[in-house]
Amino acid sequence: MIRVNCIGVGHWGPNLVRNFVTAPETEVRTVCDLREERLRLIEARIPSIHKTSTDPDATVVDPEADAIVIATPVATHYELTKKALEAGKHVLVEKPLCESAAKGVELVELAEQVGKHLCVGHIFLFNNGVRGVRNLIRSGELGRLRYLFSTRTNLGPFRTDVNALWDLAAHDLSIFNYWLDSSPIAVTARGAAYLNGEVEDVVVASYTYPNGVLAHVHASWLNPRKVREITVVGEQKMVVWNDMDLNEPVRVYHKSVDIEREPVYSDSFGEFRMLIRNGDVVIPHIGGGEPLAAECRHFIDCVLGRSEPIISGREGVKVLLALEAADRSIRENSVVVPVFDRLKPNVLEEATISAT
Ligand SMILES: NC(=O)c1ccc[n+]([C@@H]2O[C@H](COP(=O)([O-])OP(=O)(O)OC[C@H]3O[C@@H](n4cnc5c(N)ncnc54)[C@H](O)[C@@H]3O)[C@@H](O)[C@H]2O)c1
Repeated sequence: MIRVNCIGVGHWGPNLVRNFVTAPETEVRTVCDLREERLRLIEARIPSIHKTSTDPDATVVDPEADAIVIATPVATHYELTKKALEAGKHVLVEKPLCESAAKGVELVELAEQVGKHLCVGHIFLFNNGVRGVRNLIRSGELGRLRYLFSTRTNLGPFRTDVNALWDLAAHDLSIFNYWLDSSPIAVTARGAAYLNGEVEDVVVASYTYPNGVLAHVHASWLNPRKVREITVVGEQKMVVWNDMDLNEPVRVYHKSVDIEREPVYSDSFGEFRMLIRNGDVVIPHIGGGEPLAAECRHFIDCVLGRSEPIISGREGVKVLLALEAADRSIRENSVVVPVFDRLKPNVLEEATISAT
């Protein structure tokens, strides 16, 4: 039995508690939050919890816990995760890993030193639609990828601790990295803080990945429509993943454009023609299942030594580096900012070479 302490039971934390309470290999010992009213609520909803606490410092070092699950605001992730790792616990911390890549690197190195797993809640890696699109990309069926375009919008929930990019695009970056098996080389971004003047509510960021693949994100909590959609454009086929469509989240468009070159007889438009291929739209079967349950199961498997994390701290740092670079671009009038992987100092050069 893995003994788990859960910290933070606001909007998201109760879902994690529920999953660790129902998993056969885990037992939730202590649930902690600074707010008594949240603890009373969770006690009423999940009576099997052993104990509640308003003391996060004691909860992370509790000798009765093997693993700590953290779903508190981003600014608290670093301190809580560091203390938990120093106390020899495995940690599953919500996304984004923490508020800076430098601190993220520190946590990854600490986890490696103490020999414990540090996992980050990049939940979309356990979404069956996202996994289905990854299989399509990897099979080569779409042809060479040209670009990705993600829209992640809604009216709220509003945050004041991080901007819309850190809150929402953290998901898209984890998906892009997973689909493309790489991380971005550079980014240009724009954002605006309409509501409180402090953090951007709307951000549009354009990332360059190796091999010239562009990946655009529109992240906003100031939008009338809840949209969770990514379009993937390949040379042979195109795909739309729509997470709001529970029954048919993936559509494969057998559409493409070929350029037919003609013998050069002048320097006018006649030199080439665009041939549009307009084929079927195929809706593959995508199985159901709760992504969070799969994420918790994966964490349990890692702790039990049955699996290596696909949501490791290293993956979390790659996302932080991409977020930080976009923040810098926003501050510096949308200048193109390189994304430098501090865990692998030569990755930027490698990626630049393969992109040219
Ligand atoms: N994976 C997902 O789809 C998903 C969805 C929503 C939120 N999240 C992530 O979960 C985390 C929490 O988000 P939320 O929406 O639940 O926030 P929230 O503000 O609703 O809840 C955070 C809770 O943490 C408590 N808290 C704050 N500081 C604490 C501390 N030091 N010790 C103990 N408790 C503390 C607060 O009292 C609050 O109840 C964030 O990192 C967010 O990005 C992930």
